[in-house]
Amino acid sequence: MSKTENKQKTGENIDALYLHIPFCEKKCEYCDFCTFINMEHEYGKYTEALIKELKMYPEYEYDTVYFGGGTPSLLSIKMLSCIMETIKYTRNAEITLELNPNDMTEEKLQELRKIKINRLSIGIQSFQNHILKFIGRLHNGEDAVKVFENARKAGFDNISIDLMFGIPNQNMKDLKKDLEMILQLSPDNVSIYSLIWEEGTVFWSKMQKGLLYQMEQDLEAEMYELIIDFLKANGYEHYEISNFSKKGLAGRHNLKYWKNKQFLGVGMSAASYYKEKRYSNVRNFYKYYKFIDENIFPIDEKSVETVDETEYYKLKNMLGLRLINEGIEYFDDEKSESLLKRGLLEKFNKGTRLRLTRQGILLANDVFMEFI
Ligand SMILES: C[S@@+](CC[C@H](N)C(=O)[O-])C[C@H]1O[C@@H](n2cnc3c(N)ncnc32)[C@H](O)[C@@H]1O
Ligand code: SF4
Repeated sequence: MSKTENKQKTGENIDALYLHIPFCEKKCEYCDFCTFINMEHEYGKYTEALIKELKMYPEYEYDTVYFGGGTPSLLSIKMLSCIMETIKYTRNAEITLELNPNDMTEEKLQELRKIKINRLSIGIQSFQNHILKFIGRLHNGEDAVKVFENARKAGFDNISIDLMFGIPNQNMKDLKKDLEMILQLSPDNVSIYSLIWEEGTVFWSKMQKGLLYQMEQDLEAEMYELIIDFLKANGYEHYEISNFSKKGLAGRHNLKYWKNKQFLGVGMSAASYYKEKRYSNVRNFYKYYKFIDENIFPIDEKSVETVDETEYYKLKNMLGLRLINEGIEYFDDEKSESLLKRGLLEKFNKGTRLRLTRQGILLANDVFMEFI
């Protein structure tokens, strides 16, 4: 194990912080993230608790900070600014905030820049109004374009957008229009996920009742291939299964997850990888506040897993293979040999590294299953 890996194990060089803001204006029917609606009365109290939790950890100097949700942009500038004042970060830190297109004015975007947020992740999902309506989003395509342009005007030179494909009712034409919009707006990073049918969501129960159908696998694969070919042909690097970026602008925070680096997560449901343990916080306001009031880490004990040496390398390989060009160090065992023979993995860099082939990218979930 290298020196850096050793430091990771002991928690000496934590430099990534995630903050979970569990509020939304409306619950999307496909989403199972820990988030609640009609909770405006909790924003202040939650912000205070989050700051208290942050202070329970040693004062690390963070190189990446990520406000995720939920919808972090629902918090007031004052609240976000109070959180920012608690965080020590490096001069060159990447500080990202997720936002929804419907809750953002030009002034608020300018205020966000003033409090040192320097990267936005905008949840657009699609630019097609009939798709947005179908998945129950509060914004339309025009709102998405407007918020993007306003963010550029406010000085954000690092913007990521989230899109989805594999949505029932979405066809190739819809997807092509979305891809054309990417070229028009020219975001620095694009995260494009195929719809995951999560148990417990409204979409899931509609599927159970036969009211919604999953997209045909062949069509979904065709969409994914089009996305890869189109974005690569237009100057984006495909650096992770679902992520594309302009040169040098891959999201630094998420890269740390895929490189199996340690990170701290604060707020309800936030996951952490810290001092050889992976764990998540509780997902309930009452329990979260109670722990914080008693100065106890609000960890869900059932979620705690110790990462021993075997688990460490298993995760490192499974996560690392998501990185399309970088891949992982070559290791000679039955699993890798079988995946090489099946044409899902290939060796490169004089045989010292392994990465997914094109076929492997399309069947990535099958490859990852081999590592579980
Ligand atoms: C948890 S959301 C937070 C950002 C913001 N609230 C939004 O929805 O725009 C982050 C991203 O996760 C993705 N997402 C959420 N649920 C998903 C699902 N069931 N399948 C695929 N992607 C999903 C969406 O692309 C979304 O933009
Ligand atoms: S997808 Fe985003 S806006 Fe919709 S419920 Fe989930 S976190 Fe909230």
